[in-house]
Amino acid sequence: MHRTDSLDRFMADVRAGLRASPKRLSPEYFYDALGSRLFEAICQLPWYPLTRAERALLERHAEEMVAPFGEGASIVELGCGSGEKLALLAAPLCKRLPRLDVHLVDVSETALDLSRRTLSRLPRVEVSAHRARYEEGLCAATARRLPGADGVRGGGGGPVLVLFLGSNIGNLDPDAAAAFLADVRASLRAGDALLLGADLVKPAAELLLAYDDPLGVTAAFNKNLLSRINRELGAAIDLRSFDHRAVWNAERARVEMHLVSRRRQVIRVSAIDLEVAFEEGESIWTESSHKYEPGEVVHMGERAGFRCDRQWIEEAGRFSTTLLIAEERAARR
Ligand code: TRP
Repeated sequence: MHRTDSLDRFMADVRAGLRASPKRLSPEYFYDALGSRLFEAICQLPWYPLTRAERALLERHAEEMVAPFGEGASIVELGCGSGEKLALLAAPLCKRLPRLDVHLVDVSETALDLSRRTLSRLPRVEVSAHRARYEEGLCAATARRLPGADGVRGGGGGPVLVLFLGSNIGNLDPDAAAAFLADVRASLRAGDALLLGADLVKPAAELLLAYDDPLGVTAAFNKNLLSRINRELGAAIDLRSFDHRAVWNAERARVEMHLVSRRRQVIRVSAIDLEVAFEEGESIWTESSHKYEPGEVVHMGERAGFRCDRQWIEEAGRFSTTLLIAEERAARR
């Protein structure tokens, strides 16, 4: 993706989002260089158990998770972050294969750099980085699948294992998640797979602590979106005039994150010639993080044209990892 394309899209999305009612901004824009680092810090917070729970599952079960994949297999990770979890899954494969192609897809250059560095520890791994949104990156990666055991590139081709971890699926609302999974299925062939990490419903207090930590790292991460608008779009938003707020919406089973204006004010975003008025207490909705029951994850996959090969649940019931295999015919949208 070209820099100007992404800046144009950022400008268009900020304009549309701040004019909408309720106001909202897409979580995709959290991940500039600073945002990516703040997110890595969130993953290490004692109050954010997701990353540790998922890592524990991968540490224990990586071999079983990649067992179905043989020669010519490649891995595509959508939203690679630091690449640590990817490395856990790639390690058993690169031990037994002559070569493993790994495609990193992320909108953040920082994430791609971190992941490339993480993977450089492993032998026989060929890394390609795609600075792109999920769908574009996945298309670019699957177009380059390796020849399979039959030696045929294109027509045959080794199996592709797509990783979508960290409960990133939960940041999409249910319709968008269904559409996303159907898109993933459409770019795969029968026998390819999706390893899906999804956070599970748990007591509200625990969930809120995970998204509103006492060190204020998540607040900084959320507010960095405003700081990014200041830096990249020439605004002068007073970051202290907004509060971070996390709310558990039990009916929809999701944590919602907001930036709440502490006062009545007008903000100006000069690069897009935009003025936006805020009432005191008015918020910008920046992200939702949906939580699931294990069976719901399986159903989401099935509706998109996958079958569930196996599901692993973390010991304390905190997190799920589900191996979904693309079925012969993609589900109709
Ligand atoms: N996929 C992660 C999640 O939903 C993303 C995330 C974690 C996040 N913590 C966050 C996003 C805090 C915004 C703010 O848990």
